[in-house]
Order: sequence, then structure tokens, then C-alpha cells
Amino acid sequence: MPPRLPLFATAARGTEALLAEELEELGAVRIRRHPGGVRFAANLAEALRVCLWTRLAMRVLWPVGEGEAPGADGLYAVAEAVPWEEYLTPDTTFAVEATLQKSEHAHSGFVALKLKDAIVDRMRARAGRRPDVDSRTPDVQVVAHLSGTWLQLSLDLAGEPLNRRGYRIRQTAAPLKETLAAAMLRAARYTGEEPVLDPMCGSGTLLVEAAWMAARHAPSLGRHFAVERWPELGPLARPLLADLRAEAQASQRPVPIPLWGFDRDEEALGAARANLRAAGLTGTVQLQLGDATHALPLPSGAHGLLVTNPPYGDRLGTGGQKGMKSFYFQLGEQFDALSAFRAAILSGNPAFESAFHHRPSGRLSLWNGPIACTLLSYPAPQQAAGGPARRRPPTLKADGR
Ligand SMILES: C[S@@+](CC[C@H](N)C(=O)[O-])C[C@H]1O[C@@H](n2cnc3c(N)ncnc32)[C@H](O)[C@@H]1O
Repeated sequence: MPPRLPLFATAARGTEALLAEELEELGAVRIRRHPGGVRFAANLAEALRVCLWTRLAMRVLWPVGEGEAPGADGLYAVAEAVPWEEYLTPDTTFAVEATLQKSEHAHSGFVALKLKDAIVDRMRARAGRRPDVDSRTPDVQVVAHLSGTWLQLSLDLAGEPLNRRGYRIRQTAAPLKETLAAAMLRAARYTGEEPVLDPMCGSGTLLVEAAWMAARHAPSLGRHFAVERWPELGPLARPLLADLRAEAQASQRPVPIPLWGFDRDEEALGAARANLRAAGLTGTVQLQLGDATHALPLPSGAHGLLVTNPPYGDRLGTGGQKGMKSFYFQLGEQFDALSAFRAAILSGNPAFESAFHHRPSGRLSLWNGPIACTLLSYPAPQQAAGGPARRRPPTLKADGR
């Protein structure tokens, strides 16, 4: 068997344990969690399987160098020491993307530029000619992470981040990242066998991710990976991927469960319709205009998983935090009426939990980009132990707190 590479998969903060679990299912070994990602080992075929099937990872990185990198000269020295001629040829395009954490440098663009200079200089010296930069679709995407003065350099096997599945052709104001939507479903222990309802579906991300899980559809089946264009690994990766894609194609099934999506905004529904079509899910999800604070027109006997991320802030124009509390309270009232649905609700507003006035059975802290959120799980009201797990409605203070 070819040697196993040490790899690092990145994910939204708070979803690392879920990603570790997914990677293990996909055959990765030596799995170790870190803030913002998971280290693991995999041979090329296993790594490609991860790229094709992971629903939670944003990037799959292969670390190629690291070191103490003080000042601009330090950046250059660490990057210059990496044997780039093993990964690039003068005809391979590349790009450098840098992220900074507690760094002396203010601009990631400056760091990326210094690293690019070092790569170009080393390639000119060792290979006689420099490779070109292509910032849009590089063959080799170099990912740099500078934490303090510690620089880590990696190659991104997928290239474009894995949350870009290709179906988001229309955006709404606050769409969830595809990978975070998938993490919510995994946290809810959703397996694709249960009907799904998103009463505030926006552009439909949770519905697409749930339907793809139900269809056993590999989330990156419709896209290519940068590693296919790498000089050395590309010729090995292409036939392996052809087999993995054929196997993934064959394992698909028609979506066996109903899915319902509602939103009170016509434009959001239009985006959801377009995105579902792009995901190959036309006719799979019933989309309808609806207000989640009122009874939704669901078939009698409907049951399953309610999964959603309600608005966090006052985009509704309902009078600040006081208005949000009363909105969440009304959502809680309607949840009683959906008595055969368990729920997983991502909230970025600390007022949600008490205003919703149901007792959660689980709670997971995670980050939606820069927003600290809590994913709250609720048993179906008809199953909540000892009858409806209710608290008294919140008293809304006059100052809105
Ligand atoms: C944070 S967004 C959901 C984003 C969605 N998960 C996505 O990935 O695009 C919240 C959505 O709730 C909708 N919404 C707000 N109030 C609503 C209500 N009372 N009934 C139904 N939908 C509502 C908004 O129109 C918006 O599309």
C-alpha cells in the first residue's frame, strides 16, 4: 500500500469532533482533533475518498513545511526552504492564500506576496524558470497559516474550498455554509431516513444537504480537485478518482423521504428553488411560502426532523431585541403544534433559548463564521419526557433586554 500522508482537514470551530467521526467512517487513521480542524493520515486513495465524500471539511491540506518566521525575512526563509520543485514545475500555476492569527503583520496579502516571492525564487534557481501565479484556478493552491511567528505551509488537495459544492447559484442575505449545514445534520444524528422540515429555509442549504444525505450522494461528485492537476500526484490521482466517482455514482438512490421548506420571503424561495434545481433535486423538496410563526400547511401525520437557523438579528424590523424575543416565543408556540417533529435549531442570538421556552435535550457551541452560535436539540414535543417540556413564557422587559 502506498505510504500514508499526514493531512489536516479544516472545519468550522465547534464541529471538530463531528468531523473526526466522519473522517473515521471514511477510513482515515491516526485522527487527532485540533481547534479548527482534524489531523489524520491517509494514503492517496483514502485522501481522495475523503475529498469526494466529506460533508463537513472545508479543506484537506497536506503540510509541506513549517517554522519560526519572524519579520518579512523569516517568512521568506521558511518558504524558501521547502522543496517546491517536488510539487511544482515551471508550467504548473500556483497561488498562495494566507491566514493570520495574532501576527505582527497586519495584511494577509503582504504575507502571501512574500511567500510567493520565495517560491518563485527557489523555482527559478532549481528548475530554471518560474511558474505563473493564477489566483482564480491555480493547479496548486498553497495555504499558509501564520500563528504568531509560527508559519505552516500546506498544499490544498481540493483547491477550491469543499463547501463550494456547485449548487449555490443564488444567494440570500445570510446563507449557511454548506459544510456547517451538514455539520448541523450530523450533530442531529440525521441519517437520511427521516422526513425533514426547514420552516425558514432561506436559500435551501439545509434542505439540499439533507436530501443529498438521503440520496447517498457524494457532496463533491460534481466537481474536480486541484490534486488532479498536480505534476506528480495528478497521474496517480486521476484513475483513482475515476473509480471512486463511478462507485459513488452507483451508490446513489432516489430520495426516499419527504422534505418541506417554507420561507416568508418570495425571493428566498426563488433562490432555494434555483439551488435545489442546480443540486439535481427538482421535485424532491416541497417549497412553499409560509410564516413559521403561524401553522404551516403540512400533510396530516407529518413527522421527522425540523432543522433550521432562524434570523439572529433585527432584519425583521420587529423592534430590536424585544421584537426578536417575541418572534422566538411565537416559534416556540408553533413547535408545540408540530408535535411529531424533533428539532435542531442553530441560534446566534443568546435570547433564543429562553424565549423559545422548550427544554433542549442537547447543546453544541459552534461558530457560523464570526458569529458564536449554539445548536440546540429538542425532542418532539409529544415525546418530551413528562409531557411538554415547557417553561413559562419570558417576561419581556421594557428596555428590550
Ligand atoms: C438566517 S436565514 C436562513 C438561511 C438558510 N439556512 C440558508 O442557508 O440560506 C433566515 C430565513 O428566515 C426567513 N424568515 C424570517 N422570518 C420568517 C418567518 N416568520 N417565517 C418564515 N421564514 C422566515 C428569512 O426570510 C430568511 O430567509
